[in-house]
This record gives sequence, C-alpha cells and structure tokens, in this order.
Amino acid sequence: MKKYLGIFLLIQFTACQNTQKNEVQNRDEQFRPQIHFSPKAHWMNDPNGLIYNDEIYHLFFQYYPEASVWGPMHWGHATSNDLVHWEEKEIALYPDSLGYIFSGSAVLDHKNLSGLGSIENPPMVAIFTYHDPVGREAKTMKYENQGIAYSLDNGISWTKYQKNPVLKNPGITDFRDPKVIWYAPKNKWIMTLAVKDRVSFYSSPNLIDWDFESDFGVAIGAHGGVWECPDLFPLNDSEGNEKWVLLSSINPGGLQGGSATQYFVGTFDGTTFIPDDEDIRWIDQGADNYAGVTFSNIPKEDGRRIFIGWLSNWSYAQNVPTKKWRSAMTLPRALSLFTDLNGKTQIQSQPISELSKIEKETQAIVAPETTVDAAVYKLHLSEINPPILIRFQNDYGEFSTLEFKERQVVFDRSSSGEVAFNASFSSKHSFDISDIELKNVSIYVDKASFEIFLNDGEKVMTEIVFPTEPYNKIILDTKNVQASLTPLESIWKSNPIK
Ligand code: FRU
Repeated sequence: MKKYLGIFLLIQFTACQNTQKNEVQNRDEQFRPQIHFSPKAHWMNDPNGLIYNDEIYHLFFQYYPEASVWGPMHWGHATSNDLVHWEEKEIALYPDSLGYIFSGSAVLDHKNLSGLGSIENPPMVAIFTYHDPVGREAKTMKYENQGIAYSLDNGISWTKYQKNPVLKNPGITDFRDPKVIWYAPKNKWIMTLAVKDRVSFYSSPNLIDWDFESDFGVAIGAHGGVWECPDLFPLNDSEGNEKWVLLSSINPGGLQGGSATQYFVGTFDGTTFIPDDEDIRWIDQGADNYAGVTFSNIPKEDGRRIFIGWLSNWSYAQNVPTKKWRSAMTLPRALSLFTDLNGKTQIQSQPISELSKIEKETQAIVAPETTVDAAVYKLHLSEINPPILIRFQNDYGEFSTLEFKERQVVFDRSSSGEVAFNASFSSKHSFDISDIELKNVSIYVDKASFEIFLNDGEKVMTEIVFPTEPYNKIILDTKNVQASLTPLESIWKSNPIK
C-alpha cells in the first residue's frame, strides 16, 4: 500500500513539475515578448494603477479575460520586486452593475484621509472609470463616472467603495482615466481627468468628495482624436527648477498615425496648469507606446519618475498575429528633463538601470554581418557617422531597417515579417533629430519589438514587429559606427511563472 502511495505521490509531483515547466515554456511562443510583461492569455491594453508599496511594484492593466480582443474591462494585475521580472496575479477588479472598469490610477492614502483603512494600515486606493455599456447604448451621455476601491493587504484583494461613483459625469461622453496625485503645498489630492478634447483637474481632501478646479488643453496641443490617460507630475529641469509635466495620450492623431502620447511642460499651482510654450511634444517618436503613465509612491530615496506604456496602437492592436494573448507593456523608463539644442525643455526617457540584471556578456561587432546567437538583445551604437543603415534580418529573409541620416531617423518595418493583418501596419516611420546632437543609441530588440533610445533617451522610438523567427543577423557598415551587442536573458526563464 505504502509503495503505491509513494508512486502516486511521485506521479503527482512530476505532474506538478511538468505544469510548471509548461507554464515556463508557454511564455516562449512565437512573438512572445521575452523582456516585456505580457499576460499569459487574452487581451490587455493600458497600464493602470502603477504603484510601489512595501517592496512591491504593482502593474494593473486593462484586461479582458475571455478573449484576445477588447471586451468588458477588468483590472488585471502583475507584481514585481525589480520592475524587470513580473508575476501575474489574480484579477484585481471585475466589472459590476455600474459598468466596466476602465483606466485609472492607485495611491497610498498614508494619512487614511479616506477613512477606508487606518493610520497603522493605510489603504491603497484605486481610482478608476466606470464605463456603463447600457448607458452608452441608451446614449445617456453620462455613462462614464469615477469610482474607487481599496486594498488593505498591499494590493492583493480589493473592496469597492459602497457609495460609488465618487465623481459623477456632468453630461460629457468622454470622461475618464483619472490619475490622482497628492499635492502637498495645498494638502489635497489632485485628479487629472481626460475629458474629450481636454483634461480637467479636480481636487479632494479625502479621495471621495471631488471639486472641479480647471480645464486645460482645448486650444492647445494635438487634437486629431480624443484625449485619454493623462498624468501630471513634477520634474526638475536641467537648471534644477521644478517644472510640471502633463502627459495626454491621444487617439487617433498620433505622430505616426493612430495612438500616441503628447506632453506639455509648464507650471501647476494646485488649480491651473500653464504650459511654457505651445509646442507639440511627443513622449515617443514611434507608433507603439500608448496610454503610458507613471508610478506613484516611489520612495524619496529612489526619486525616479518611472513610466510604463502600452506596447501597441489602437490602429491594429486587435489584429496583431498573436492569438493566445494580445499586447505587452513597454520597458519601464525613468523620466527626466533636459534642454535641447534649441533651448527647449524635453522629456528624456531612460531604460531603467535594473535591466542590467538580464544583460549577458557584451561583444564588439566587428564584421559587417554578424550572426546573433540570441532571440533578444541590446545593440549599442556610438561614434555614429551618418548616413548609416542597420538591417535586422532573419533566415526567412524578413528584415527591419533603422537608418540614421544627418537630421532624421527612419525605421522601416514594411518587410519585417507578418504585416498584412492590418493595412496601416506595414509602414516606414521617421522623426527629426535636428534638436539633439546624436552621440549614442541603445536598441532593445525583443521577439516582437524595437525600443530605440537615442542619447540615453533624449529621443525614443518604440515599434512592434512580427518576424516569423527572431532577427538573428545584424548587417551594418562598421566603418561608420562603433557597435556592440549584449544578449539579454528572458525574464520568464529566470523567474518561472507559478
Ligand atoms: C485608452 C482607453 C482609455 C480607456 C481604456 C478602455 O487606451 O481607451 O481611455 O479607459 O482604454 O479600455
């Protein structure tokens, strides 16, 4: 009898090991990002509720657990202790009678001003949009309202506030994506809300009662589409002066068509945002960085302003050729301000330093054609002498090219692999670099994306691609550039999914 029990347990143990192995292998499918977060299965869009607390980074996200296309929205959840390796958790917020759970933010209510926790155990509060599909059908205009939920166990379980919604719609069809910050000079919470063609600021003493403060943006910035997913935060400029940065995603009407994120640099006094100028600035020059926002509650000793965006574009997000899951997040980036050659203040987006953890040994590229023995890698360029063309190619003859001209960068994905799934995907995207002096470039190449950081992020270009096999050949003119290659370790292999 004992013997059989032993065999039974052994079988159970092996089965369990195999499941784990399968899970790990499952994150190695064709097109599966190896250095970016993507859900095990089904549809994901915007990052939501980015917050750090008690040594854990939380990434919530717009999630539809029933299919790989957009549907009734939930907040999915993943956690990390280094922003590099992620563990997917249970769904945090489910739709209810008030509607789907659209995008929003999370804060730690340290002083328990909401009364939803205690001083000893302050509540983590999520502020999100309820989108009521029934109201939308009925054309009520008032189908988007803001609700809150709280967690007393560091984001694991959530309770919705009983008297939701906390901020009611005044009769505007697009009224969503609340991003809340604590504004210390006036001792109040500030909510930045996307309202059709502008953002509206609201304030609250307790995250429950909200008052309108002001509007910004009707006659300024890009207006090719609706404004979504704003963010507002302070950053010091290159002279050490505090500036306020306002992000506002827009869809469509982005720089490369479809979705993109614009931003403004100016001042904020707790009521009004005033931009320093009327220029249109984009946080990313590529097609695939949307709805990005920054973490709250990062400790002062760290001091970084950490940003994550959605690695896709509404123009084709629902058609991309990944069937089991759809979409990933960008690499996290630390934002700062720099002064460009024209004396303008711009955002610099640096890949977070924690990524060095997955770097393997760097080798110089000496031949015009190098075979890469890794699916995922970082290519570093310096001593760039334009014009130069870099070609990333695979054994199927599919390739993406990156070209540096005197004043322009061009990325061409028209022969990159699968492109026919949407007419707008196969494209050549370019941007101007006459406002910076090109010194170096770091290119993170994953199985289905490029993230190109010029001068440590003074300009960034993010683009997705779907090559049949990873690009294992790099072709470039070594006379005109110094190049080195660093293979990157998969974030899933070193951190198996449980
Ligand atoms: C942006 C967005 C948000 C909305 C969410 C719905 O991508 O349209 O404005 O809250 O997605 O999933």
